[in-house]
Amino acid sequence: MEKTLVLIKPDGVQRGYVGEIISRLEKKGLQLVAAKFILAPKHLAEQHYAVHYGKPFYEGLIAFITSSPIMAMVWRGPEAISVVRSLMGATNPSQANPGTIRFDLAMVVNRNLTHASDGPETAAQEIALWFSPDELYE
Ligand code: RTP
Ligand code: MG
Repeated sequence: MEKTLVLIKPDGVQRGYVGEIISRLEKKGLQLVAAKFILAPKHLAEQHYAVHYGKPFYEGLIAFITSSPIMAMVWRGPEAISVVRSLMGATNPSQANPGTIRFDLAMVVNRNLTHASDGPETAAQEIALWFSPDELYE
């Protein structure tokens, strides 16, 4: 079964949406197989967002994601990667569809509450980056 990495970013934690976001994934039918609440070390954030290195928003993104604790999780289900990204909505909350997490709960792109893996290769890389195999309960 497909697995995907989800991060609830500092804005989601600070605004009290950990429960709401987990609830939406659970209600859809996805299965939680790993979770940890952590202040991400800078080197981990830099590896996670390496694809964006050099972009105008990169430094701000790293500073933000490491600024306070996040909820890192692995979710599993049929086509979990695309299903979770559909539940999240478009990267920019103003362009996301109503009913998505980002449209319903967020306003701006640099405070868009969540991260979710965007493909099978990135999902495998990101899960291995944030979790050791013995932390996954499948
Ligand atoms: P994520 O990686 O966080 O799941 O989000 P995503 O795939 O929907 O978006 P991506 O293109 O990977 O961008 C990563 C994060 O960088 C921030 N961002 N800011 N123009 C901007 O200021 C800008 N563009 C992207 C967002 O927080 C986005 O989630
Ligand atoms: Mg992305």
